[in-house]
Parts: sequence; structure tokens; C-alpha cells
Amino acid sequence: MGELLFFSGRADTPAELGTCLLGGHKNDSLVGMQPSGLQTMSLMPSEKSFLKWAGGKTRYATTLVSIAPPYTGCYREPFLGSGAVFFELRPAAAVLSDANPDLIACFSAVADNPHEVMRCLDGMPNTREYFETIRRQDPASLSVTERAARVIYLNKTSFRGLWRVNRRGEFNTPYGAYDRPYYNRETMLRAAKALTTAELLNCDFAEALDQAESGDWVYLDPPYVPLGGWADFKRYTPDQFGEADHERLSEAMTRASARGVFVTMTNSDTPFVRDLFGKEFSMHRLATRRDINLQSAKRGSWDLVMTNYELSAPGQEQLFD
Ligand SMILES: C[S@@+](CC[C@H](N)C(=O)[O-])C[C@H]1O[C@@H](n2cnc3c(N)ncnc32)[C@H](O)[C@@H]1O
Repeated sequence: MGELLFFSGRADTPAELGTCLLGGHKNDSLVGMQPSGLQTMSLMPSEKSFLKWAGGKTRYATTLVSIAPPYTGCYREPFLGSGAVFFELRPAAAVLSDANPDLIACFSAVADNPHEVMRCLDGMPNTREYFETIRRQDPASLSVTERAARVIYLNKTSFRGLWRVNRRGEFNTPYGAYDRPYYNRETMLRAAKALTTAELLNCDFAEALDQAESGDWVYLDPPYVPLGGWADFKRYTPDQFGEADHERLSEAMTRASARGVFVTMTNSDTPFVRDLFGKEFSMHRLATRRDINLQSAKRGSWDLVMTNYELSAPGQEQLFD
């Protein structure tokens, strides 16, 4: 099993991109490690999402993009969250999906009219009282723009930005009392531009995976198997994501793999994950620091990365110890 050391900084200029450290080596070939010259604009500065999502991959996006397979089709991300890997990769064609309907509605509105969404956010005060009003709103009663602004507002003002809902689908994360802007104008506009090549779907991951065709690349970042039991933070959607879902995921990955689809999945380094995915897929360890599970600090910080392809493209071997 190989070990991937993540690049924790962000390269803001093409010059920095050429000299960043990856896997402990001076990385002269990061641009060459992009999956294909046609798929990305690899000399552009790194992008980031307009959301900060629990379990989001912003910090590891550069590493995950650098281990992309030589795909020739569409990029697919069925557990979209903030879409950190999508924004890093900026593929020519993408299908992005998630089971959270508010999240997908938000991405759609940002893609269609980022200016309207920002205007709406500008009129939303960051106070506990207003937060409570927004939290209790029924998204179905809102306009497309208001619904998107509500997601961004709650993401930036709720405790740790957690999107947590009860069984009735009502948002129940408390107010975070953070003094920070809801958005960065440039980030929003760049996100909208990146999303012009993407199709957005609100669906279960299995449906999204089953649509993938030979030559596509699917990056899967499910709610993790908790290190010490099924913890509270998996409540991203009213339906809990449990053992049976990970089993469904393993089956859907196997089906896609048999059709010639490239798959990459990140998950926690637990016996359950090793058993379920380790027989069928190549297993690598990614050095991480997890924010929302303080237990990980005690246990060492590794995630597992499962792939159905070898990491053999030029430069990728540099990622291994
Ligand atoms: C760990 S987060 C993904 C984070 C993302 N990679 C990022 O960088 O922000 C997991 C996502 O899976 C979604 N999800 C949960 N159950 C799902 C299901 N059955 N099908 C599709 N998406 C699901 C959640 O709504 C959440 O956005």
C-alpha cells in the first residue's frame, strides 16, 4: 500500500504551482500530473469553493487531483458537498450530484445568477435573531435565489458550518456567532464560471454512479465510517448514512469498475473500510488532519484512498514514501 502525503498549502500563482512541495519532494511536474491536457486549465491558479463543508476536501484537493486517472470522458462527483475537488480540477465536462436538495439548488442558482445570490446575501444580517428566522424557513416557500442564499448564509453563520437536519429535514445546527463575510466576490464569480460546464443533479450516489460510462472518472467522498462508532456528524441528510450504504457504495463501485469507469474513493482508515473495499480496490493511505473528529488527533491521521487503477502516471510515484 502506498502513502500519499498531502500538500497543505495553496499555490496562488503559476510560479508557485511549479515549486510547491508534494510528498516531501520538490514537485517540478505538478502540472504534468493533471489527468489530461484537455480536461483542465492547469496553469490557472487553484480554485476553491464558495462553501466550507464538513469533511470537505479543500486541503487535499491538489493531492487528489494529482492522482487522477487518465480519464477521457466526464468527471463525476456523486457526494458533492462543497465540490472542493471539482473546483481544483475544473474539468471540461462534469456531472455533480448530492442527496441534499438544498445544496444542489444552491449550486444551480450560483451557476445561473451569482450576482443575484450575492445581492440577497448582502441584505441578510449576521445576528442570532435573524439566523433563527432563516433556520426555520421552509426552503420550498423561497425563490431560487433566496434558497441559495439561505444555504450559504447558514453555512457561514452556523456552528462550524455544519449542515445538520433532523428527521423532518429541518435545519438544526445552532448559531455560530462568527465574524466573517458570507462570500468572496471573486470566488463566487469563478465558481459560477467553473459550473457552466457542469450538470447538477439531486440524487442518491448509486443512481449517479450507475450513469457513469467507460472512460469517465468518478471521485467518491461519502460520509466517512466513523473511527469510533457511527457518530453524530453523519447527519448531512435526513437519512442516516450507515453500514448498508457503504455496502451499496462498494457494489455500485464494482459495477462501474466492470464497465470501464475509473473510480477513486476516500474514507476513514478503519477495519470496516479495509474489509469492504480493500479486496477489490487498490488501497493507499493519505496523511490528513481531520477537523471535525478530534479523536483522530490521538489516533494518527490517515485516510484511505481506494482506486481501481494504479497510480503510475508520470510524477504520481513521487507521492509515495
Ligand atoms: C463528506 S461530504 C462530501 C464533501 C466534499 N467532497 C467536499 O469537498 O466538500 C459527503 C456528502 O455526501 C452527501 N450524501 C449523503 N448521503 C448521500 C447519498 N445517499 N447519496 C448522495 N450524496 C449523499 C452529503 O449531503 C454530503 O454533502
